[in-house]
Amino acid sequence: MTNLKTMLSSKDMDWETPQEFFDELDKEFHFTLDPCATKETAKCKKYYNKKDNGLEQTWQGHTAFCNPPYGTEIKHWVKKCSDESKKPNTKVVMLIPARTDTIYFHEYIYHKAKLRFIKGRLKFGNSKNSAPFPSMLVIF
Ligand SMILES: C[S@@+](CC[C@H](N)C(=O)[O-])C[C@H]1O[C@@H](n2cnc3c(N)ncnc32)[C@H](O)[C@@H]1O
Repeated sequence: MTNLKTMLSSKDMDWETPQEFFDELDKEFHFTLDPCATKETAKCKKYYNKKDNGLEQTWQGHTAFCNPPYGTEIKHWVKKCSDESKKPNTKVVMLIPARTDTIYFHEYIYHKAKLRFIKGRLKFGNSKNSAPFPSMLVIF
């Protein structure tokens, strides 16, 4: 079970999107690809897991919902989302912590993508606790 200590630990980077939150968003965007998931957490029929390595796959032609691992690799996912979104018929929506002081935020997101800052804090996975950070949606 996820407790606050685990949530604050850098080892636990799999912040599963709350299903209701995803469902509302899906009504608007109609997602066709979850590029970083497990079989259990995938939000779309079509998904990539660690073994597939979503960072090395093409997302072209999809509307992707990307809630990536929140460790240091997050910058690679932000770049990938930005790059993929430039391909024809491809749209990407990211759910990430609202860390507006990061290099990747300024390089790939700020003034380049549409932003929605989430009011309040999300409860990820089955956690009863709210996340210790604010979240944002980045629409590439
Ligand atoms: C924050 S969780 C999100 C899970 C799910 N997509 C969701 O929205 O609830 C990030 C997921 O990315 C997966 N992951 C980590 N590295 C990956 C990679 N290189 N390619 C694909 N998936 C990866 C992890 O196993 C984890 O399930």
